[in-house]
Amino acid sequence: RANALAETPPMGWNSWNQVRCYDLTEDVVRKAADALADTGLRDAGYRYVVVDDCWQAPARAADGSLQADPKRFPNGIADLADYVHSRGLLFGIYAVPGSRTCAMANDAYPATGIGSLGHERQDAETFDRWGVDYLKYDWCNADTVDGLDRKTAFEKMRDELAALPRPIVYAISEYGVSSPWTWARPVANLWRTTNDLVATWDSVLATIDQQASVAAHSGAPGGWNDPDMLQVGNGTLTPDEARAHFSVWAVLNAPLFAGADPAKLSDTDLATLSNPEAIAVDQDFAGGQGRQLKAGPGYQVWGKPLTGGGIAVVLLNTGATTATVSASLPGSWSVRDLWTHRDVGTDVSATLRPHAAALLKLTPR
Ligand code: DGJ
Repeated sequence: RANALAETPPMGWNSWNQVRCYDLTEDVVRKAADALADTGLRDAGYRYVVVDDCWQAPARAADGSLQADPKRFPNGIADLADYVHSRGLLFGIYAVPGSRTCAMANDAYPATGIGSLGHERQDAETFDRWGVDYLKYDWCNADTVDGLDRKTAFEKMRDELAALPRPIVYAISEYGVSSPWTWARPVANLWRTTNDLVATWDSVLATIDQQASVAAHSGAPGGWNDPDMLQVGNGTLTPDEARAHFSVWAVLNAPLFAGADPAKLSDTDLATLSNPEAIAVDQDFAGGQGRQLKAGPGYQVWGKPLTGGGIAVVLLNTGATTATVSASLPGSWSVRDLWTHRDVGTDVSATLRPHAAALLKLTPR
């Protein structure tokens, strides 16, 4: 393992899916921390408040250290981390191994020299001083622009973090390009398995499909496959689609990072993100993450073992009309529906609206 952290999949909020680049401010982050506390999401498990790309000033300070954009973060990062901690939450930040962040390439973010290349130790020490508890280290063309090797570059920052007094969860992101599920377990606590998830059903479904092949290289305590942050509450996702998305992330033991404004969630989406029975499935690792048990035109079935001999099952209607999706699993089971919070008998079956999912907990009878 990379370190003794992230025993269960980490949970929190990240700025990127909510505000992306130029709308990121310290005010947005403070409000997110407040809302996580006030809505009950913090107490449901969402503990890390992570500031993604575009927090940086256009250049390093005279001593070479990273600094926050003075207009959007007038009080600086240490002050913001203090505030987040005062709300009973943990604080995360974003950096890259190469010379430029993704936003510099994709959003024309005006900056030079704010990647950690050649500053790895200095940046790790800065994060330590600021009170950072979580680092997202994002690839962003460090191969083509800087000639770096992924594993070597990610190991370098792992070693710098390990040398610090402060425990810092280490999340790496290279979009699954070099099959990190085959090498990243001793390197990081979580590693992205796919390209960015956007807030449409097509993107959710494409991401789900991609997880089928990586499940065999399951995460385990301290090292998790990351199918990307949640889009519940964003874009065009309907409440059914958001619950289906969350159901599959739960059986995948996925890290759960909310990415909508937690102060503006609908009651339905807040209930989806807060569902204690679904979160318990996500946080329970009983030897393997969820696997695709079967799939065909209009349906998929996913399942994973639970502590105590049970199974968590997702029945997913991927079709355009209402349909019944069923599975027969060896054994005999008492079935509980974790969205309606009701015991529903012994059949592993549900009639589902288009793009809806049932998340079931099977307990041996
Ligand atoms: C690409 C990552 O996949 C996103 O999650 C986000 O961190 C952006 N880079 C930031 O530029």
